Amino acid sequence: MPNPTPEKIEQFRKHLKNDWTRDETVAAWRKWHKQIAEFTAGATEALLKEACLRPGMRVLDLASGVGDPALHIAQIVGPSGHVTATDLGPGMISLAAELAAQQDLHNIDFKEAAAESLPFPDASFDAVTCRFGAMFFPDLQRALVECKRVLRPGGRLSFAVWGRREQPFISTTHGVLAKYVEMPKPDPDLPDVFRFAEHGKLQAELEAAGFQNVKENLLTIPARWEGSLELYWQEFSEVSVAARPVLAQLSPARRSDVHDEVLIGLQKFVQDGHLVLPLEVVFASAIRP
Ligand SMILES: C[S@@+](CC[C@H](N)C(=O)[O-])C[C@H]1O[C@@H](n2cnc3c(N)ncnc32)[C@H](O)[C@@H]1O
Repeated sequence: MPNPTPEKIEQFRKHLKNDWTRDETVAAWRKWHKQIAEFTAGATEALLKEACLRPGMRVLDLASGVGDPALHIAQIVGPSGHVTATDLGPGMISLAAELAAQQDLHNIDFKEAAAESLPFPDASFDAVTCRFGAMFFPDLQRALVECKRVLRPGGRLSFAVWGRREQPFISTTHGVLAKYVEMPKPDPDLPDVFRFAEHGKLQAELEAAGFQNVKENLLTIPARWEGSLELYWQEFSEVSVAARPVLAQLSPARRSDVHDEVLIGLQKFVQDGHLVLPLEVVFASAIRP
């Protein structure tokens, strides 16, 4: 990616905050959080394995959204450990806080924080985790250096990010939509959801930020949807930050065409009556020297 100007980064930051903190986004994640958590459970499991967590650890989870994987981590580190779950705005983590209360978890707190300026003292965590968030960090190096600063020496960072755009999870929905409407082209100067698809890219960024023992792994993880294809379409059209505004502009007839073609494409991934999509996810871990 070419170096974006500071003005472009600032513009992207505002756009990101607007996308992720607006009422429609928060309402959609509130509505579908259970199904999303089940669908992506394999990615959570793989990230937790990568993070090598133990009881008693102090963990910072970045871009926690509605609490995945922060709530699982709170269970693993137990009452002698602690989790700090962070996100750009109050909306998404407000649900994470409600879920923590329902699960009787008292070793977790919630804080609004952008990954590039973490409001925590140096060396205050044993581990930093982030699931499906690092692709959005506007100034990635600044965010990684912040992660390094708040980790204690020997502490571990573990990230899960999306692999290629050309994977069924994307082609069955966004890919179909792109045949009917011109989707906004990603700005080549700015971060993109698939920015770490190229093998070794995230690893190189972590090494550039001064991390050691950096590892990167691409895994294909089956994601099982516990509901009908119709429900999957509804969830996609409400949750997807990129697709929601595009779908809203389509005429009912065009929208119905997209819907029908998406459902036909999804049929190919139905196994024993359930939709199972293979998710290509990149996992990276690194140690603070
Ligand atoms: C796809 S959601 C992932 C949420 C959760 N970790 C999960 O896996 O379900 C992306 C989250 O990243 C957050 N986010 C985006 N950019 C961020 C940044 N620069 N700093 C912190 N959080 C950010 C958004 O607010 C959103 O909640």
